[in-house]
Amino acid sequence: MCGIVGYIGKRDVAPLLLEGLQRLEYRGYDSAGIAIHASGKAGGLKTAKAKGRVRELESRLPKRFAGTTGIAHTRWATHGAPNDENAHPHMDAEGKVAVVHNGIIDNAAELRAKLTADGVEFASETDTEVLAHLIGRSQAEKLEEKVRDALRHIEGTYGIAVLHSDFADRIVVARNGSPVVLGIGEKEMFVSSDVAALVSHTRQVVTLDDGEMATLKADDYRTYTTEGSRTTSSPETVEYAAESYDMGAHDTYMHKEISEQADAVDRALRGRIDDRFSTVHLGGLNLDAREARGVRRVKILGCGTSYHAGQIGAQMIEELARIPSDAEPASEFRYRNPVVDPDTLYVAVSQSGETYDVLAAVQELKRKGARVLGLVNVVGSAIARETDGGIYVHAGPEVCVVSTKCFTNMVVSFALLALHLGRIRDLSVADGKRIIDGLRRLPAQITEILEGEAEIKKLAELYADAKSMMFIGRVRGYPVAREASLKLKEVSYIHAEAYPASELKHGPLALIEPAMPTVAIVPDDDLLEKNRAALEEIKARSGRILAVAHAVQQKADHTIVVPKNEPELDPILMGIPLQLLAYHTALSLGRDIDKPRNLAKSVTVE
Ligand code: G6P
Repeated sequence: MCGIVGYIGKRDVAPLLLEGLQRLEYRGYDSAGIAIHASGKAGGLKTAKAKGRVRELESRLPKRFAGTTGIAHTRWATHGAPNDENAHPHMDAEGKVAVVHNGIIDNAAELRAKLTADGVEFASETDTEVLAHLIGRSQAEKLEEKVRDALRHIEGTYGIAVLHSDFADRIVVARNGSPVVLGIGEKEMFVSSDVAALVSHTRQVVTLDDGEMATLKADDYRTYTTEGSRTTSSPETVEYAAESYDMGAHDTYMHKEISEQADAVDRALRGRIDDRFSTVHLGGLNLDAREARGVRRVKILGCGTSYHAGQIGAQMIEELARIPSDAEPASEFRYRNPVVDPDTLYVAVSQSGETYDVLAAVQELKRKGARVLGLVNVVGSAIARETDGGIYVHAGPEVCVVSTKCFTNMVVSFALLALHLGRIRDLSVADGKRIIDGLRRLPAQITEILEGEAEIKKLAELYADAKSMMFIGRVRGYPVAREASLKLKEVSYIHAEAYPASELKHGPLALIEPAMPTVAIVPDDDLLEKNRAALEEIKARSGRILAVAHAVQQKADHTIVVPKNEPELDPILMGIPLQLLAYHTALSLGRDIDKPRNLAKSVTVE
């Protein structure tokens, strides 16, 4: 969702900020804006805003828009419609303060009423504008103090960057619940809500903590708490180079990210396998063997694709570690006053590490004294910081709104966790070794599946005329069906339903007819015959069937044959051809693959 970029240095700032905003486009937004300290005698702040894409903003920039310090924003509407007025930056009444803000100010209505009563006229419907006026009205001397004064009135979440025309040598930023990352350059400083906008300039970053602020000057930065005491924060090096954020030779990020999965899985395994004890080392777990043995339940929380990864993960943990486990959407969990049990291990799973519903669930759990692990992709993200320990999934940067490689790496990471917990409990050495061998085979098998892309493309074109599709699977195959169905609807806008194959005859069979094709997950496991019986039921109603299986299925119209691994790990492989199916279906329908309508990559609001 919303994104922030800022720069202070010697270079012409507008092109730099526009490039930064483009790098944040993937998160989803509906308007954009920019404010700079204008160079030249007159000085002062200049702004430009536009509804729509960043290129719209670019075309609107006034001719004279030179400066070397500025902030910019991509906005996803929460308070007020997406239009020019509501786009950030927001200014105070005198036009001396410009603010960009991610997050939500909960008491904005109340503050707005107070300010209006004091005669302030608002130019927008946003919550953020309140902040600009509060900073502008502060009587404090220094900009840092003005911002601090204003933040004292604010309830809610924020990542902000502030310019003030009387303080042209600095940008002041603050964080509470919404990421702010400083990029440290040579005689120039950057700030963003996302490292993706920084890495083409610097890989040296400082991630602010909640309750922390910073002042950026061209050749210096300092961090301090909202109360004003200095904090120490030395720069860390971002793991991935700028190229990892680029599309490379691919036409879409989705295609690039699907294609990277063999390497991504290899990275998730690297350095973690312990052949001596047929287990894995998970350095950041912070859960010793005694504690792991004391776990009586595992509860996995995530949203969207990550929730589906959690469903597969729960089955893996239950099978390999014999601990009762389940997954639940974090968005539901946090609203049902759940019983929080001291013997339950909670696992929050998230690509971005920013999803508000997941973060809020983690905070509620922590407040109740629960132990929460994170299974997260973005290093240093909010969820990674809030949790007691965890596993980084190491998928690398994922830019396409719909998740593919990250899903696969999450499931692989759950397999590692299941194996680790299993080997501390009752999983035998032989079974541990069997799973390790299976994990090691994954990258080559993924490559083999991806080599079949041309075939899958043909199938996608064949089924792309469907108005609606059914996805079925049983037990291990069911979450695979759910994720495949989600992928298809997100990216192609074809309606899709996912059901356990066992439930067909309890209702959904009524939908089956030639115009409603079924994608069936049919692994060669102990449920093979049951799955085949479901195919019979569909065929008897003249339904078209595309099977994903370990061998050609006679009853199916088409089969995508995937290589066989261990039964517990097969779901990892069975999902991959269906990512390609969704991709090629969307491609043949001419969809905006990397940015499907109405969706955002990181949902940082409720
Ligand atoms: C959004 C995205 C989904 C993603 C979900 C959870 O809805 O569009 O692709 O699965 O958020 O995101 P997370 O970053 O927590 O994995």
